[in-house]
Amino acid sequence: MTTLTLFPSPFSKRHLLGIEELSMVEITQLLDSADGYVSLNRQPEKKLSRLRGRTVINVFFEDSTRTRTSFELAGKRMGADVINMSVATSSVRKGETLLDTAMTLNAMRPDVLVVRHPESGAVALLAQKVNCAVINAGDGMHEHPTQALLDALTIRRRVGRLDGLVVVICGDVLHSRVARSNIHLLNIMGARVRIVAPPTLTPPDADRLGVEVHHDMRRGVKDADIVMMLRLQMERMHGAYVPSVREYNRFFGLDYAKLAYAKPDALIMHPGPMNRGVEIDTAVADDINRSVILDQVELGVAVRMACLDLLTPREGANT
Ligand code: NCD
Repeated sequence: MTTLTLFPSPFSKRHLLGIEELSMVEITQLLDSADGYVSLNRQPEKKLSRLRGRTVINVFFEDSTRTRTSFELAGKRMGADVINMSVATSSVRKGETLLDTAMTLNAMRPDVLVVRHPESGAVALLAQKVNCAVINAGDGMHEHPTQALLDALTIRRRVGRLDGLVVVICGDVLHSRVARSNIHLLNIMGARVRIVAPPTLTPPDADRLGVEVHHDMRRGVKDADIVMMLRLQMERMHGAYVPSVREYNRFFGLDYAKLAYAKPDALIMHPGPMNRGVEIDTAVADDINRSVILDQVELGVAVRMACLDLLTPREGANT
């Protein structure tokens, strides 16, 4: 099993831009491959030579702690040379456009560009201009595919499956690329998805996303297998979306009283960064039996190793 997953058949996509364009087979291939790297990441010696001689450039036009570090570790553990381009000190500050920056990096012949950008669609646009693989590390309010994959791997390893589970995504769904990628993935994999948000933070196209929409936490969380909390993305809000943070916490913050409506063994998830006391209470976030928030971080490295592997053609392969 491990041998098979570590040497998977070629992946059919050139880039990883979003979950929406993936099939159940492709998602399963990525998750199976990632599963094979989890035990390696728990050993003292973690380095493989699979991507030796390959170059991965992380280009983050937006802040990040876990995603950037996770991609850097993943690239290094696969044996690649990893460069982090710091946008704050780059020529972007001198007015260089996204596409000129992309073409410049492309001319240095990287094998993979990992890109985060505040505009939805910017990463897909960049992917059309370069001749290496591009991984979307979050584009505006659109998609964050590796986050959804690591969330799915976390659930699959804990519960054993995704299909048939009731997964509730709560909070600032409107601004969340994590929510969008998760909704696509969970629907493709046969889970039942509910979103819980105040009307102001519910996407206008929610009906077309294939989810059940709730505005009341108790009803939304009822009998859930998984409760996934989201941060209030103040940086994407222009105007007042919630009356006050205190009121938001009272109605939409996850505490034990609201969690009591979910299944007794429901798992608590959060992509991070968390705002404790806003969307999630500290005791719930740190509950060692129910919270899998740090498992998500751990499995994120394995998922990104799988993505780098599957998007980098092997020598001699004609894909
Ligand atoms: C998320 C993001 O950047 O979209 N964080 C992450 O990648 N783990 C969610 C967030 O910023 O709230």
